Amino acid sequence: MLLTCRKAAFYTMIVLNVFFCLWMCLLWKLRTDTSGLQRGLVPTKKFWHTQTLTGPFWNKEQKQLDIIHNSIEYSANSLEVLQDLLKDSGPTDPCELDYRVPLQIPDYNTLPERFQDFLLYMRCRTYPMLINQPRICEEKPFLLLAIKSLVPHFDRRQAIRETWGQAGVFANQTVVVVFLLGTALPADNFPSLQEMLKYEAKLHGDLLQWDFRDTFFNLTVKEVLFLDWFSKHCPHAMYVLKGDDDVFVNTLRIINFLDGILESDARDFFIGDIISNAGPHRDQRLKYYIPQSVFEGEYPPYAGGGGYLLSGGLVLRLHNISQQVVLYPIDDVYTGMCLKKLGLVPRRHVGFKTFDIEKKYRDNPCIHRGLMLVHSRTPQEMLKIWPWIVHPELNCQ
Ligand SMILES: *[C@@H]1O[C@H](CO)[C@@H](O)[C@H](O)[C@H]1NC(C)=O
Ligand SMILES: *[C@@H]1O[C@H](CO)[C@@H](O)[C@H](O)[C@H]1NC(C)=O
Ligand SMILES: *[C@@H]1O[C@H](CO)[C@@H](O)[C@H](O)[C@H]1NC(C)=O
Repeated sequence: MLLTCRKAAFYTMIVLNVFFCLWMCLLWKLRTDTSGLQRGLVPTKKFWHTQTLTGPFWNKEQKQLDIIHNSIEYSANSLEVLQDLLKDSGPTDPCELDYRVPLQIPDYNTLPERFQDFLLYMRCRTYPMLINQPRICEEKPFLLLAIKSLVPHFDRRQAIRETWGQAGVFANQTVVVVFLLGTALPADNFPSLQEMLKYEAKLHGDLLQWDFRDTFFNLTVKEVLFLDWFSKHCPHAMYVLKGDDDVFVNTLRIINFLDGILESDARDFFIGDIISNAGPHRDQRLKYYIPQSVFEGEYPPYAGGGGYLLSGGLVLRLHNISQQVVLYPIDDVYTGMCLKKLGLVPRRHVGFKTFDIEKKYRDNPCIHRGLMLVHSRTPQEMLKIWPWIVHPELNCQ
C-alpha cells in the first residue's frame, strides 16, 4: 500500500515536472520571439488607458519611466501604445510647472502645501550651480565626505572642519570634504546670508551650492544633484560617506575599516543603519506622511539618511540608474529605490547609530572609538568627542 502510494507520488512529480518545463519553454519562446511578444504580452490600448487613469501619481509616473527605459523590448505596434500613453506627459521642459498634476490627483487641493509643491516640480532634476569646487578632487580622494547642510548652519560646518571632517591626509589616506547646499530664500523667512556664504566658500573651498529651495522634500533633488556633480568632478574617489551635518563620524575607524576591504568587494559596497519592511506613513501629522494618492507600496530596504558609506563606483551606478527612478519626497527611501533597481541590498553595520546610543554610554570615550557614526550631536559635542577618538594615550583595552 505504502509502496504504491510512493509510486503514485513519484509519477505525479514527474508529470508535474514535465508540465513545468513545457510552461517555461513556452514563456521563453514568447520572450525571445518578438512577434509572439507582440501578440502575447503587449496589452491592448484600453488596458493601458485604465492603467494611466488609476493608481497613485508616483506609481503611474514610475510606470511610464519603466516603459521608456525598456522600450527596446517593445515593437512598432506597442510604440503606438506608448506614444498614446505619453501623449500628455506634461510640459516638454521638465523644470516647468507640471500643469497635469492638479488634474491627475483627485485630492490635490486638500494635500499639504509641501506635497503640492513637490509634485508640481517632481520632474525637475537640474538646477544651476551657484558655488562649485571643480578641482577639489584633483588629488584622488580615498574618502569623500559629502555632508548635507543648510545655509545658516555655519557653526555645524565649522565644527565638522575642526573635528571629524578635517580635509587632507588622515590616517595616511586622502580625505576630502564637501558641504551640499541649496538656497535660503527670503520667502522662507531667511535673513540674507548669501554674502557670508560666499565668504565662507572662499575661505574654506569646500561648499557646493545649487539654486533650489532647500527644504525637506527637496533633499532628493540635493541627492541627484550630488550624484551628478560626483560623476563630473569626483568620479575617482574610492569611497563616499554621505551624511547630515548633525552626525558625529569616527573618521579614523571608518578609514581603518575601509583599508581592509578587498577591491572585489568594493563594487557593491553600501553600509549603514538599515531600515527594512517599512512603508509610507499615512498619519498626516508625521514628518514622513505620504498620501495614498501619491504613493502605494512597500519601501525597499534603505539606509537611514543620517549617514551611510558606499564605494565611489556604486555612486556612479546610482547616478546612472537614478534617471530611471521617479523622484520620491524622502531622500533615503529614494536611494533605497535606486539600489533596488540595481538589484542591490544595503548592508547593516552596527557601527552606524542613527538613532543614537544608550544615554549611559554617551560620555564614554572608549565606546565612541568603536563607533562609526552617531546621530545627533551638536557642534559643541563634536568638539568634546573628537579628542577621545584621536587621543593617543587613551587605553581602551
Ligand atoms: C603611512 O604610510 C607610510 C608610508 O607608506 C608608512 O611608513 C607609515 O607607517 C604609515 N602610517 C600609518 C599611520 O599608517
Ligand atoms: C524645490 O526647489 C524648487 C526650486 O527652488 C522650488 O520651486 C520648489 O518649490 C521646491 N520644492 C519643495 C517641496 O520645497
Ligand atoms: C552609465 O551609463 C552609460 C550609458 O548608458 C554607460 O556608458 C556607463 O558605463 C554607465 N556607467 C556606470 C558606472 O554604470
